[in-house]
This record gives sequence, C-alpha cells and structure tokens, in this order.
Amino acid sequence: MKQQQKVSVCCCLGLLVVALAAALKEKEKEQVLWSKSWLDLADKDAADSASSALPAQTQTQPPLNLMVPLTLINSAASKGAVCLDGTLPGYHLHPGYGSGANSWLIQLEGGGWCNSIRNCVYRKTTRRGSSKFMEKQLPFTGILSNKAEENPDFFNWNRVKLRYCDGASFSGDSQNEAAQLHFRGQRIWLAAMEELMSKGMQKADQALLSGCSAGGLASILHCDEFQDLFPETTRVKCLSDAGMFLDAIDVSGGHTLKNLFAGVVSLQEVQKNLPKTCIDHLDPTSCFFPQNLVANVKTPMFLLNAAYDAWQVQASLAPTSADPRGLWSACKSNHALCNSSQIQFFQDFRNQMLNAVRDFSMSTKNGLFINSCFAHCQSERQDTWFADDSPVLGNRAIALSVGDWYFDRLPVKAIDCAYPCDNTCHNLMFNEDLSSSSMTYSQSTRLSFTVLNLLSALMVPIICSRCIMRFHSVK
Ligand SMILES: *[C@@H]1O[C@H](CO)[C@@H](O)[C@H](O)[C@H]1NC(C)=O
Repeated sequence: MKQQQKVSVCCCLGLLVVALAAALKEKEKEQVLWSKSWLDLADKDAADSASSALPAQTQTQPPLNLMVPLTLINSAASKGAVCLDGTLPGYHLHPGYGSGANSWLIQLEGGGWCNSIRNCVYRKTTRRGSSKFMEKQLPFTGILSNKAEENPDFFNWNRVKLRYCDGASFSGDSQNEAAQLHFRGQRIWLAAMEELMSKGMQKADQALLSGCSAGGLASILHCDEFQDLFPETTRVKCLSDAGMFLDAIDVSGGHTLKNLFAGVVSLQEVQKNLPKTCIDHLDPTSCFFPQNLVANVKTPMFLLNAAYDAWQVQASLAPTSADPRGLWSACKSNHALCNSSQIQFFQDFRNQMLNAVRDFSMSTKNGLFINSCFAHCQSERQDTWFADDSPVLGNRAIALSVGDWYFDRLPVKAIDCAYPCDNTCHNLMFNEDLSSSSMTYSQSTRLSFTVLNLLSALMVPIICSRCIMRFHSVK
C-alpha cells in the first residue's frame, strides 16, 4: 500500500518535472513564464506546507496556520475591474479586534508579470490570471498572522490579502479583444479599495499598505493613492517587501528586466497610471522602476529588501537567456557555489541597490531594512518575519523593525554590511538541476568562504548607516 503510494507520487513528480522541463525549454526566451513558474512554485510550497498537514500530525503540531477564505468582489464586474480572463477579482480578509479593530493592513499579492499576449493568455489558465483557479482559502502567516507571538504589532488588525490576477502590479488599464484579455489592474485596485472601505476601512485610524515582489512594486505605485483614501488624521504608511526591482545590467551586458517591464508597460498601458512627476521627465518603462519613484512618494514608506534579491539574481541578472552556456547556473542556485568574480558582480548589484535608496533614506519619515541575504519576500513567511532564528539587523527582527518604524518607536534605517557578514539570513537555495521547480530555505550560518571573497566584500565602499560586522562568528 505504502509502496504503491510512493510509486505514484514518484510518477507524478517525475511527470511534473518532465512537463516543466519541456515547457521551460520551449519558453526559454520568455523570461516571464520562467520566472513565474519559480514564483508559483515558491508560493505553492508555502501554501502546501501550511495546508496539507496530515490528520495524524495535526494532533501533535499545536499552532496550525490560520486559513482565511477567498471573497470575490461582486461589485467589480460593473466597473470592468476583472482578472485577465474576465473573472471577478478577490481578497482574503480576517477581521481585527480589540485595539486593532480600526486598523487595516492590506497586503498586495505578488507573482511576476506578463509582458506578451502569449504569456498573458497562458496566465488566464492559472490563479495569476483567473479567480477560477485561486485557492479558496490561504494560510495567514508572517505579517498576516493572527498570533501575537508571530506578529507582535499587527496580529489583531484587520488583515487583507488582495489577490493578484492582472499581471501588471495592479496598474494596467487596457484590453485585447482578439485574445480576450482584460488588463484591468488599476480598476481592480480601485474596486478592492472601495469594497474594503465599505467593510469598515473608512473608519480606520491606522492603515498600512504592503505587498511583496510584484505586490511590493504595486505598494510603491499605489502608496500615495492609498493615503488619499483617508483623512489626515489617519496614520497611513506603506511597506514594500522585495519590491526594489533594479534597472540593472545582466551577466551578458543586456537589460533583461527593462525589456520585460517595457513589454508589461506597453501591452497593458501602464503609463496612464504612473506618477506624473516621473512621466514628466522619464520614459514610461523607467517610471515602472522603483528607483525612479521611491524618493518622490509623499506617504511614509518602508523598504524591506534583500540586497542580493534572489528573484532578481535568478530572473533578471543571470537568466538562462543571458547565460546560454550555464556558467552561472550553479552560482545563481546557491550563492555558496559562486566564485569571487561572481560574488563581485553581486556586490556591484548591492551597490546599485544602495544608490537607488540613498535619496529615499534621507527622509525621516521613511524606513529601511536591507539585509545582505539571498532572499525574496521576507514579510510573508513566518521564519523570516518573526521567529527565534529569523534575520536581524541591529539585533531587531524584521517584524520589530517594521513595527518600530510604523509606530514611530524608533527610526529604522538598517542597511547590512556586504556579504558574507550576516549569519542570520534565511537564504533561498535552488536544487541546481531543477532551478525552476524546487527550492528550499536554508540558513547560511557558518558558510565557508574564501579569503578572496572576504577581501572583495570588505573593499566595497560601505555607505550604510548601521553596519553590523559579524565576521568573527563565521567559522
Ligand atoms: C568565475 O566563473 C566565471 C563563469 O564560469 C568565469 O568566467 C570566471 O573567470 C570565474 N572567475 C574566477 C576568478 O575564477
């Protein structure tokens, strides 16, 4: 019996891998699909591990994740605020109570982008483009957790996860009739805000707009619009997690991400909804990059990002299209396998990241947590948000740092020193031969590294305001 199950599971996995490999080979040039499968599986991992606990285990594992049901926005249809396939958008809301009853946290879901008719059409067959395929309930962990010991500052707030099904960071507004594609991200955003206002958000005295990855970019794009929903007496702030996508040069000297963004912006007519202050002096695609936006956001904002953002390393810096010979495949899957010149390439990327946030960081209203990890999205997962061994800067976990900034307990401008000095990272690792279909978190404690790596890391000009040196603890 057990044997049979094992065999069928193996067969299924094998088929999945073969199918994935075939799909990936065919789509090698389409970065979006490639990276999307990465994110899809990343999210699925989190959801599965949270929701598929066996009955036998549930008795011995006390804190099961809170599961929150999906609500479709019925009023959205009449506003044309629909997913790529024309279905209704949706959200998951867990109500607040006590001191959090009038506080609202909105988390914008991420999940890459679609930049061509072809991959937007593909998206219609997934939860990223149709509510038909969305999970009917999602686990609320990390910043969405309802437990004080997991989420000390926001656990009793009204907490909302707004589903992402437009493919352009909630910012497009157009359509393609021939392909029956609806590009209505901006309308979904507006319809969702209207719905939540009617569910009590209009009485909010505190509100935080957050989001991760494509949702982290969306929280930057919509931050000032979010504040405009509320009277001045409401404390309104925004958090962007892993949203600092840089207009960087890839390992072959190309502009992988800029090309991808150019497709998203033109296909979905995103320029209509980009800030005028940017459109006035830069091309629309550049105005989809946070580096050209964050310093001009009026609402207080917090940037949480890994300096070596794992998604950008994989999909923007060293994608297969920029590395046809696979010279980076080991290194991009596991940073411990990088040689010194590859690490130096990542150090340059980190420097670009720090340059991109320099003006932003000058403003007292803003906060920063840029740790030197190979991670992506650190606010949604419990292990990175707030746990015994979660990442810290200045001895403060991410949850506490975001809380310190939100409630004005402390200024938070935490920028880590360069790799490899942080031994609290939870780095994303990829199974090398399955880089797009399997990955795990692993702690980078006591990584062995060469003296050369150490030297090159030390030579990077340090412009951080709080550098925490931990070389001594790396054995
Ligand atoms: C590091 O690896 C890359 C890619 O294989 C190679 O081009 C480069 O010469 C290597 N550098 C060192 C210092 O070994």
